[in-house]
Amino acid sequence: MAENKIPPVGLGLWKISKDQCADVVYQAIKVGYRHLDSACDYGNEVEVGQGIAQAIKEGICKREELWVTSKLWNTYHKKEHVKLALEKTLADLNLDYLDSYLIHFPIAQPFVPFEQRYPPEWLFEPESENASMLTAPVPLYETWQAMEALVEDGLVKEIGVCNYNAGLLNDLMSYAKIKPSALQIESHPYLTQEKLIRLAKGYGISVTTFSPLGALSYLELQMADALESVLTQNVVIAAAKRVDRTPAQVVLRWGVQRGCAIIPKSTKLARLKENIALFDFELSEHEMEAISSLNQNRRFNDPGEFCEAAFNTFYPIYD
Ligand code: A2P
Repeated sequence: MAENKIPPVGLGLWKISKDQCADVVYQAIKVGYRHLDSACDYGNEVEVGQGIAQAIKEGICKREELWVTSKLWNTYHKKEHVKLALEKTLADLNLDYLDSYLIHFPIAQPFVPFEQRYPPEWLFEPESENASMLTAPVPLYETWQAMEALVEDGLVKEIGVCNYNAGLLNDLMSYAKIKPSALQIESHPYLTQEKLIRLAKGYGISVTTFSPLGALSYLELQMADALESVLTQNVVIAAAKRVDRTPAQVVLRWGVQRGCAIIPKSTKLARLKENIALFDFELSEHEMEAISSLNQNRRFNDPGEFCEAAFNTFYPIYD
């Protein structure tokens, strides 16, 4: 089983605009981040690579001190496209290997050549009238075998999956020759996912949680309401007062203290520093339990909702 070496706090790169991205990555590395969570679909891998290159050039860190994750997009699930997609990501990031490469969603979509559109995103022929999302008949088994070949080729150290549920994870474990080292899922105090996390850990798979601050990430996308912020919960505020930290630090500390890696995104230097300063205080068992009991199985990032709302296609994967 792969050793878990993922730094517990990474910088999530989703929704960081191209014009800010290189500087945010550089600043993050400068203030101590050693884990970057990238993806083809975020559309900013060239700029992520520029930020990394700047930090390495200035001697702030060496390549081998960084943990760089990226993700295979839905349109590259066929066996002949997996390596092409990885090579494009590596070229964009200006790296010769990834620490971790993950299947972004258990959703296969028709191939889109790079020169036609990159990143391809969700819509098939987005310019056409009534454009919608299409799916393609590619079994995840085929995709996983192609991911395994990337490890054998020395292009990625580890492989894993995102947005898998327990059933898919059990299935994957039944056929994987190279076991997944990582599972990345949405999790925060309103979506604690205890059973899935327990299952993954039982398999020796490390868990990284995205959207560790919950609703905040989804306000700008109109996929959540400001009233859904976990930062205003009494138990969070009370713990923040006791440990003399911010409510965000309490929620993020809860995330790492339960044994997961977290990848909060911020473009602001003060928050980048705040979000990584989680290791000089602890939450009590009672505080951990009280925060966990805020769970309401509230999923903000749900293809079963957004694919229909934004891409005219009903495509649930968790139900
Ligand atoms: P910003 O980039 O303006 O700091 P995600 O859940 O995808 O990681 O996104 C986190 C969201 O919460 C972003 O919108 C980010 O906005 C904001 N954010 C990040 N860190 C903090 C913090 N410490 N306190 C409050 N908001 C934060």
